[in-house]
Amino acid sequence: MPIELFLTGITTSGTPHLGNYVGSIRPSVGHSLRSGVESFYFLADYHALIKIDDPARIQRSTLEIAASWLAAGLDPERVVFYRQSDVPEIPELTWFLTCVLGKGVLNRAHAYKAAVDKNTAVGNDPDSDVSAGLFMYPVLMGADILMFNAHKVPVGRDQVQHIEMARDMAHSFNHRYGEHFVPPEAAIEDNVATLPGLDGRKMSKSYDNTIPMFAPREQLKKLIGGIVTDSKGPSEPKTVEGSALFQIYQAFASEDEAKSLRQAYADGISWGDAKQLVFERIDQEIAPMRETYQSLMGNPAKIEAILQTGAVKARAIATPFMGQLRHAVGLRSLQSEADTTAKVVKVLLPVFKQYREKDGQFYFKLQSADGRLLLQSGAFASPKVVGQTIATLQTEGIVAMNSSPAPLQKGPNITESDIAAALQTLQKAKQS
Ligand code: TRP
Repeated sequence: MPIELFLTGITTSGTPHLGNYVGSIRPSVGHSLRSGVESFYFLADYHALIKIDDPARIQRSTLEIAASWLAAGLDPERVVFYRQSDVPEIPELTWFLTCVLGKGVLNRAHAYKAAVDKNTAVGNDPDSDVSAGLFMYPVLMGADILMFNAHKVPVGRDQVQHIEMARDMAHSFNHRYGEHFVPPEAAIEDNVATLPGLDGRKMSKSYDNTIPMFAPREQLKKLIGGIVTDSKGPSEPKTVEGSALFQIYQAFASEDEAKSLRQAYADGISWGDAKQLVFERIDQEIAPMRETYQSLMGNPAKIEAILQTGAVKARAIATPFMGQLRHAVGLRSLQSEADTTAKVVKVLLPVFKQYREKDGQFYFKLQSADGRLLLQSGAFASPKVVGQTIATLQTEGIVAMNSSPAPLQKGPNITESDIAAALQTLQKAKQS
């Protein structure tokens, strides 16, 4: 079975919430346990700089996300688990990709367009408060993926465009410099739900509607109690369509469990009871991890060591690959300049040119590297004899002029020694 390469990252800009767990952490851990899969999981802290300018928060978030991933069962022995900023090859590759990607592609990126639309709507300059980092976000993400030639990138639907852009970058680079990158594919799992948040919109830090993944039991209960519902009273039948509470439950429950809650909705379960049920079901899954999480959070040195080991593994791939890419684009040691110069010199060698004139006869001439006519032949009856004559000149040198079947004439202001030198140069070039 061919090895599939999975890769995914989480931006270290906040405390992991249940949306991150359901959408990214849980499925990625699940993938990593499958056979025939090699996984790369990382903390996208360069990405975090785009949104966060609070250094302590970035550090804290890095710790929290790493601990969450490990608590959720990620085995750092089985996967390459690293911090993006420990792999300096990634920003270097970002620059290479920046130079092959059309700017227009980035203009069309959803996140950037949304920022521009927001500005335009209120009459601001379109790029007001838009950092160049936000604009470049997809290129950094492309570098994350292409650095390890990941085939499959498990992402939410909102990230599919970024994967398409990464494919675009791979194609553009390959087109210019040869086949170096595997165009990646988005692996969208349809059974991985986008979790709604407390207000029913997608759970997201930017909406401030999240439930922290490792909220203590009491807080978890309180937060779930705050999920929006409609105003149907106890015993009134309720519908699961559009119910954030039901969707959240579904992300944790088995099919049978979901079916019975659906029935309970129809039977008029009270929102209070429904919330209690949802709370208990989520806590059942999270509680065992919560303990591991707490102990990891108390031991940042251990996490740091795990990440450093991961960085070594990641760089064992990234460093040589980047070396290959540097060479491909022409960022090369000057020692290899000798080869390049030799090629240039070859281009600048004297040349024989064979041709046919309007009289139907065949001719050749010898031109110097700078284009002067050194030798002009008379007419030959066949191109084959032209070829033979040239070959003899090349191997035997100037003396072969005497045995030519057709007359040979020196070019204007050309001496015999000019021709002899040119023939010698050709002979030497052929030998080297
Ligand atoms: N953009 C992703 C997010 O918003 C994080 C991320 C960065 C990522 N680089 C990636 C995901 C590469 C998948 C592959 O969370």
